[in-house]
Amino acid sequence: MASTLFSGGTVVTSDASFAADLLVVDGRVAAIGSALSADADERVDCNGRLLVPGGVDVHTHLDAPMMGTTTSDDFESGTRAAACGGTTTIVDFALQVKGQRIPETLALYHEKAAGRAAVDYGFHIAVTDLYDGAIADLGGVVDDGVTSFKIFMAYRGMMMLDDGEMFEVMREAGRRGAQVCIHAENGDVIDRVAADLVAQDKTEPRYHAVSRPPSTEVEAVRRAIQISRIADAPIYFVHLSVAGSAEAVAAARAEDWPVSAETCTHYLTLGPELYDRPDFEGAKVVLTPPLREPEHREALWKSLRTGALGVVSSDHCPFCFRDQKELGRDDFRRIPNGGPGVEHRMPLMYGEGVRTGRLSVEQYVNLTATTPAKSFGLFPRKGALTVGSDADVVVLDPSGTTTISADTQVQRIDYTPWEGWTTPGRIERVYSRGRLVSRDGSFVGNAGHGRYLARSRL
Ligand code: URP
Ligand code: ZN
Ligand code: ZN
Repeated sequence: MASTLFSGGTVVTSDASFAADLLVVDGRVAAIGSALSADADERVDCNGRLLVPGGVDVHTHLDAPMMGTTTSDDFESGTRAAACGGTTTIVDFALQVKGQRIPETLALYHEKAAGRAAVDYGFHIAVTDLYDGAIADLGGVVDDGVTSFKIFMAYRGMMMLDDGEMFEVMREAGRRGAQVCIHAENGDVIDRVAADLVAQDKTEPRYHAVSRPPSTEVEAVRRAIQISRIADAPIYFVHLSVAGSAEAVAAARAEDWPVSAETCTHYLTLGPELYDRPDFEGAKVVLTPPLREPEHREALWKSLRTGALGVVSSDHCPFCFRDQKELGRDDFRRIPNGGPGVEHRMPLMYGEGVRTGRLSVEQYVNLTATTPAKSFGLFPRKGALTVGSDADVVVLDPSGTTTISADTQVQRIDYTPWEGWTTPGRIERVYSRGRLVSRDGSFVGNAGHGRYLARSRL
């Protein structure tokens, strides 16, 4: 039986921090306590270090076909990057392409991931084509541990479902003990505003943000909440970016409606001035919804503290600047939407959240690991450091720093929106089920170590 003793560190959970040793046996946490004297195979001196649960990133797009191209990280490169950044579990969006049956989509994503993933993974199914029989097929995937369905309220003709279709998916989710993840933007309004801008020769990346004002998100959030009431289904909003959206979620939650939501690292740390960078550089942050003004960022941080927003995800959806973002040089509508983030979510949330005083270290753990695991049927196996949970352990040095650069990152993309940032805290070691997978930012694990996670119903 392989065993590791992490001694002398501070264990951080979602509700407490305390000095303790942590013993791992055969990939699971076996004991937590003071001065554990186990005769372990390996001892890791954690003096001055924090021991936090491996990150759970419930929003990634690996090897995903989108807007005429494919995200630049596949399951091998994307999960290596996750491991190096302290994330030991991902839940990726298996994206149905039009004409494909839902079980085929899932089988394809299992093929993409098996033997390649370096950390554990699950899937949501992103439903884009409600063919005859799709609703019955959705029921089947729940039995395979895919207990969340994503729907898009934007991207008509590509991925969008109309309100009636959204209602049908929600109703089925409610019946099956699944939940619906919602991309909330009013796609039809956005498409018309965008067409007007292009007709006026306003084709640069900055008009991507102009075409998607905050109200296009807030309207969709409110509409989806009302429809979910009729369908009697739990819903989870992905990538919320606007104060009004967080307020709508808080109001629904105050009435005990089963509504929850995430925001993403980029909405908390980056602003819309990046769209104005010269030489088409603004395309690097063409993602949806777009980056917002500072008042929204402050409101999002506050909503994380109050619990209105429970999760911070990366929405890792990487497209290289060369050849991929460049597809939209002449028309911002053709810039593939998305950016990288899986590698830097945990360091940025520690540095920009905890070390600025915006979050406590326990809130950090809650937002990046515990609540995502609870929200998606993975807790307490994931997102926790407790006896019996998987030994997904991050050793974090609060006195170190993390410098972010495209030259040194592991994720497969030729830029990062946080280029040149140095943030307090350094992830020194990352363990997945007791196995060391990264050390000082370098990957030391192996492709195929990651296992598929069948998730529980709500
Ligand atoms: O820009 C984004 N967010 N791209 C990824 C697809 C999505 O909507 O999550
Ligand atoms: Zn989305
Ligand atoms: Zn996404």
